[in-house]
Amino acid sequence: MSNVVLRDVKKTYPGGVDAIKGINLEVGDGQFCVLVGPSGCGKSTLLRMVAGLETITDGEIDIGGRVVNEIEPADRDIAMVFQNYALYPHMSVYNNMAYGLRNRGTPKPEIDTRVREAAQILEITPLLDRKPRQLSGGQRQRVAMGRAIVRQPKVFLFDEPLSNLDAKLRVAMRVEIRKLQRRLRTTSIYVTHDQMEAMTLADILVVMNGGQVEQIGKPLDIYKKPATTFVASFIGAPPMNLLSVAANGLGEPLDTLQIKVPGDAILGIRPEDFVLAGTAPQGLALELMVDAIERVGAETYVYGTRPRADGGLTVSAKPGELPPGEIIVRLPGEAAPAIGERIKVSAARDKLHLFSPGGRSRMAG
Ligand SMILES: Nc1ncnc2c1ncn2[C@@H]1O[C@H](COP(=O)(O)OP(=O)(O)OP(=O)(O)O)[C@@H](O)[C@H]1O
Ligand SMILES: [Mg+2]
Repeated sequence: MSNVVLRDVKKTYPGGVDAIKGINLEVGDGQFCVLVGPSGCGKSTLLRMVAGLETITDGEIDIGGRVVNEIEPADRDIAMVFQNYALYPHMSVYNNMAYGLRNRGTPKPEIDTRVREAAQILEITPLLDRKPRQLSGGQRQRVAMGRAIVRQPKVFLFDEPLSNLDAKLRVAMRVEIRKLQRRLRTTSIYVTHDQMEAMTLADILVVMNGGQVEQIGKPLDIYKKPATTFVASFIGAPPMNLLSVAANGLGEPLDTLQIKVPGDAILGIRPEDFVLAGTAPQGLALELMVDAIERVGAETYVYGTRPRADGGLTVSAKPGELPPGEIIVRLPGEAAPAIGERIKVSAARDKLHLFSPGGRSRMAG
């Protein structure tokens, strides 16, 4: 059994940064857990605490039924793959993979079996005699994975292992890592700030923000029912549209909202949940002035602002930010309205998300 349990884990760095403010988490035996969140939210800190590379200020970390707070990294039976998986440049691929086992005094025939097995799984057998500089980025990444696999640890820890690779290779390696983990069934914790990676890899997804957990759940459950506006705008690309709603309506006479809103609220609609010119019985209908179009092939993103009945527009944007009131609509295919055109979009009632003004999820009424 090699589950990982965190009980009210906290980390304050010397100097007073509260990097982790109390996290509870259970990763079941053989599960793939992904920690996702923006830069500085504490992902690496949490992972390094599980690895034993950072001390734990408060709380308990338990690996396979044993509290490891006071246990040295080398004795925790974990293997870590980092973003900068520095391979030893003067050693062959074989020796890079064998190195850790030799240090532990593993018998030579056993080392040979493990290295060759891992090489076969990773399809790098023909590369075993090469030096790292004779490998592509993706091949080096495989060797780094190989080093972790030969250890046969209870737990794999990954810290953004793909972020040095180009976009295409990232996707390919993402699929490889998932297949590998399914095959080895080793409990894994994987850190990324890429929501696509998080969605596709995770059995359980942990969305972090400011040293705390915003939401834990299965990726699709989180996508369908984000607990907070933070999660709503972090998971999903383009992000969920968020509109302020007053108790007496949307504030724009051209728009209609046919749900009851208990006081001031924030209304969320995913870009793909809008339809063009549809009527939305018991839902939301907006009039938009189209101000930008992005065609990415299989789909098209329409950016629009909500015109006022008097002809003025409701928004002013800060540079680099989606202006308040700007709406993104995701349409299938390449067809799109023209820039400057006024369009009507609507979303069905069961597609609407309602949040409190503080950003917590509420049931739409
Ligand atoms: N050794 C350290 N001493 C003091 N503060 C630190 C130290 N390491 C990290 N921090 C701070 O702790 C917070 C969390 O850092 P951490 O590296 O865990 O973030 P992260 O989520 O991994 O971010 P990124 O996505 O950029 O890697 C940040 O505010 C960071 O500045
Ligand atoms: Mg980090």
